[in-house]
Amino acid sequence: MRLRARFAGPLKGRARPPGDKSISHRALILGALAEGRTEIRGLLEAADVMATAAAVRSFGATVEQDDQGRWVVHGAGQLAQPSETIDCGNSGTAARLLLGAASGYPLSARFDGDQSLRKRPMNRVIAPLSQMGARFDSQNQRMPLIVHGGKLKGITYRSPVSSAQVKSAVLLAGLNAEGETILIEPERSRDHTERMLAVFGGDIDEVEIDGALHPRVRASKLKGADIYVPGDPSSAAFPVAAALILAKSEVRVEDVLVNPLRLGFFETLLEMGAKISYEERRDPIGEPIADMVVSASKLRGAAPPPRRAPAMIDEFPILATVAAFAEGETRIVGAAELRVKESDRIALMVEGLRACGVDAEELPDGLVVRGGGPKSVKGGATIRTHGDHRVAMSFLVLGMASKEPVTVDEAEMIGTSFPGFAACMAGLGGEIVEV
Ligand code: S3P
Repeated sequence: MRLRARFAGPLKGRARPPGDKSISHRALILGALAEGRTEIRGLLEAADVMATAAAVRSFGATVEQDDQGRWVVHGAGQLAQPSETIDCGNSGTAARLLLGAASGYPLSARFDGDQSLRKRPMNRVIAPLSQMGARFDSQNQRMPLIVHGGKLKGITYRSPVSSAQVKSAVLLAGLNAEGETILIEPERSRDHTERMLAVFGGDIDEVEIDGALHPRVRASKLKGADIYVPGDPSSAAFPVAAALILAKSEVRVEDVLVNPLRLGFFETLLEMGAKISYEERRDPIGEPIADMVVSASKLRGAAPPPRRAPAMIDEFPILATVAAFAEGETRIVGAAELRVKESDRIALMVEGLRACGVDAEELPDGLVVRGGGPKSVKGGATIRTHGDHRVAMSFLVLGMASKEPVTVDEAEMIGTSFPGFAACMAGLGGEIVEV
């Protein structure tokens, strides 16, 4: 399916992004590992999360939706031998977290995924999980692969990358390991697993090593819990960005998760001169939530510090779009991880921006965008997204503010994280149509 965005009037009104993807995966996985009933309100009903729901069913949990739309998981307190391949679809989070969780049980499970996931590196979890005692059969440490779980021993693992997927895989394995498991990463990545493990009664705390705090888990039994999933800041990023670059826009994006480890994009926008405020802050669930109030703003280029990259890792594509409408240079470095996401996001963003008449350049670990201010972007291109949902949405936002319409291919992939994206934009006054 192809979608096309054309220049839209000012965006006005309210939007509520779909449920947070990271929290949704974790609620299903911890619900399956726990004993008893877990009730989830606001689960993201998108392809990535549905892959996790199907996977935990294969591992023996019951997952169903009640008549009020809540998702209910009945966990058996452990994972059982699956009889079919665990198909993770497009989702790196499903793959890596479930590999970690499965490693602690006496089972053998075959994992696979789509073309994109088959290319993504799995060694980053295979290495620590092997150290703990799991065994893997794979070619080149890529999907498809088989994990043989069993008796694990706790480790202190220094991850070479700041990745919440790696951290979570190791911590979930640590729930069934002898002794304690500590994960050290260069910069702290999103901490939803740590927060949610505490809600499910896991034995988790923090230890200070070399002057910084790192999560530590000990073997523990989880108990079912009630979880509320707030709106995903990584999805909120798109209406926020569109409102900023479309003159006279005023938008309220409601019920957004504002965990500080997810706010790097919004911090960067504030440095660029964006008018964004957080209202009605609340914390009903062990995760902070707020409404974001945004108005169109005159933006200048930015140079986000590399240590901020984990807190905005999924938002670099949409930052590149915003940068095209800012005055001056935006320089993104320390973001080599972008090359191993659902696509090589550095290469695809630069290719697409250039096709739309924007001055952009690849760096080994980032990109440079030289923006010409509002109304400077020509657009008019058809963008190859390589099935990457965030690249697709980033170019549709670009098309909403450029002179000529922008078309993206494989737009059905937007459903992996933001079902209803086009409708959400239309509700604010945007125009995105199927062509
Ligand atoms: C995620 C972690 C990030 C992010 C992904 C979701 C998670 O990946 O890009 O969309 O839920 O843990 P990395 O941990 O590999 O950076």
